[in-house]
Formats: sequence, C-alpha cells, structure tokens
Amino acid sequence: MDRIITEEKTSEDTFEKNIRPSTLDEYVGQSEVKENLNIFIKAAKLREEPLDHVLLYGPPGLGKTTLAFIIANELGSNIKTASGPSIEKSGDLAAVLSSLEPGDVLFIDEIHRIPRFVEEILYSAMEDFTLDIVIGTDSSSRNIKIDLPPFTLVGATTRAGDLTSPLRDRFGIINKLNYYTEEELKQIALRTSKVLDCPIDNDAACELARRSRGTPRICNRLFKRVRDFAIVMGNGKIDLKITKVALDKLKVDSLGLDETDYHLLKSIIEKFNGGPVGIEAIASSIGEEQTTIEDVYEPYLLQIGLLKRTTRGRIVTEKAYKHLGIPYKENAKK
Ligand SMILES: Nc1ncnc2c1ncn2[C@@H]1O[C@H](COP(=O)(O)OP(=O)(O)OP(=O)(O)O)[C@@H](O)[C@H]1O
Ligand SMILES: [Mg+2]
Repeated sequence: MDRIITEEKTSEDTFEKNIRPSTLDEYVGQSEVKENLNIFIKAAKLREEPLDHVLLYGPPGLGKTTLAFIIANELGSNIKTASGPSIEKSGDLAAVLSSLEPGDVLFIDEIHRIPRFVEEILYSAMEDFTLDIVIGTDSSSRNIKIDLPPFTLVGATTRAGDLTSPLRDRFGIINKLNYYTEEELKQIALRTSKVLDCPIDNDAACELARRSRGTPRICNRLFKRVRDFAIVMGNGKIDLKITKVALDKLKVDSLGLDETDYHLLKSIIEKFNGGPVGIEAIASSIGEEQTTIEDVYEPYLLQIGLLKRTTRGRIVTEKAYKHLGIPYKENAKK
C-alpha cells in the first residue's frame, strides 16, 4: 500500500491545482524566503530586468513548485517547465532554452538530475544568455553561439548537495524551504477548507496540522481523507472526533508517523541496538533505497528529534524510545 503520509507527489494530488496558492500573500509560512523574494521581484520589475536566477531546495512537498509558479505570477511572466530527468541530451536542453521568450521564467524541477555534460550548457545560458553548443561529429564539429532572450531560471531540488558548484554558483538567489510549524499548517488547513468549501473546526485543524509532518502536501492530503470520513460518518463538517477516528484508521499517529517510520526506527533498535548504524546497513535491513531513506523518511525524524545523525551513523534517541513505548537503555557504545 502507498504511504498516505508520503511527502512525495501521488496521482491523488491532482486536486492540488486548485488549492495551490498563486500569490506570495497567499503562500503561508517561509516568511524570510517570502520577504526576500518580494523585494527582489519588486526591484527586478522596477529595473525592467529579469529576476536573478533562483534556486529552491528542501524536502518534498514543502512548496517549491508552488513558489516557482508564484514567482512567475508575481513577475507577470510566462512560465515554461522542464524536469531534470527529462533532459537527457544537450539537444533537449537546447530546445527548451531556445523556446524562451523575453522575461520568461524557466522552471526546472529536480535540477540535480540533469546529466553533467548537458548541465554545462546552462552555464553560459544563465550567465550571458547565450546558447553555446557543439554541432556535428568529431571531424566536422563546430561551435555555434545563439543569443537567448533574458530569462529567469528557477531550479528546484530536494538534494542541494548533489548540485555541482559551477551550477549552484550561477544562482543569485538561493532559498532553503523549511518544515512548517503547526500554526502554519493549521492556516493551510483552514485555507484548504475554504477553497474546497468543506468546513473544519478549529481544534480539528490543529489536530490535522500536528499530524502533517511539517509538510503542506501531507496536510492537504490528510484533509481530503478526513473529509471523506466526515461525509460518510457525519454531516460533512470536519470535527475533532472525526479527525481522530480518521487519522487513527489511516494509521497516522500523534506525531504524524506511520508504519514505515515505526519499521525504520524499530529496525535500528532491534537489529542495531539503537545505533549508531550506517545508512547502508539501515537501507538493506528495511529493503529500501538509501536515497529514499535520506530524502523522504529520515528528514522529518531528524527534525523532530527521534533520530540523530552522527559521524558514526544514525542513532535512535531516547525521545523515540519513549514515543514507541520501548524501554530506553543507555548504550555503552554511545
Ligand atoms: N506555503 C504554502 N501555503 C499553502 N499551501 C502550500 C504551501 N506550500 C505548499 N502548499 C501546498 O502543498 C502542495 C505541495 O507543494 P509543492 O508541489 O509546491 O511541493 P514541492 O516542494 O514542489 O514538492 P516536490 O519536491 O515533491 O516537487 C501544493 O499543492 C500546495 O497546495
Ligand atoms: Mg515540486
């Protein structure tokens, strides 16, 4: 079964289109990022120049794509989108770049996945607005330079560490998105309630926020599921009782953890005595990709202090033992 609390996008999230905020004002939280962007966008408009290139990074579901669309909207620009994995050859990127109109925003999602030899084309495109490519084969190859219109590249990635430094250095504005507070997630739930025309009680919105792993995408997804329960079990209004019943049925606990988190934490406790243990060993013990653990499972557990990263590996904290109801033994190795 798919995780209901996965931060990653699923087909069910298509309803997101309507509930995606479209202006900086509507975008909840990330106040520092918003304030800065607001100034840079205003300045760029006053100067009648394109906004500097923007890099957005952070865990899945925190609003990178949403923010990219907002930037274009606030600039009054058109947005063209591409994604790292779909850019395999130099020609793919050249085609995207040469389709740009003056002032366009080019949004490249998962930008860390562009192959290195293709990425190099971006350097001159970003710096001088020129497309510098080699055409033809070895003996008859030649360089051609094509002028590009001024544009703004907005790149998004969940793995900022995987970006090469020449690419990272060409972004004038680099923003990290952080997990949202419960209060911010509550505001998002209340906003979604309005957009979907589905009333929710204040305490129910708090409960939903508490169990959303700091992530708007999860908050909206849980909202939608709880709404189903409210329609079938009640009168359509989401109250605290229905929220608790629904989330318990969905096996999302009071901290927003699900069975996958329990499995991960318990494996470390049972098989590795609570750690420290290397990520490779954890990955093989729970049968998951190392990158999935690093990008998707682990960041929230680290954030709320259930897991700790040390030079010798991951450690399950005392707080996690308590939460799982497992007696904590101070490990001599730690
Ligand atoms: N600050 C916010 N205020 C209100 N809603 C938000 C905010 N950020 C994100 N959302 C909601 O959460 C959903 C997920 O956001 P988004 O798709 O932008 O995440 P992402 O960071 O691009 O994720 P991924 O890394 O998987 O691409 C959006 O559809 C939007 O409705
Ligand atoms: Mg996205």
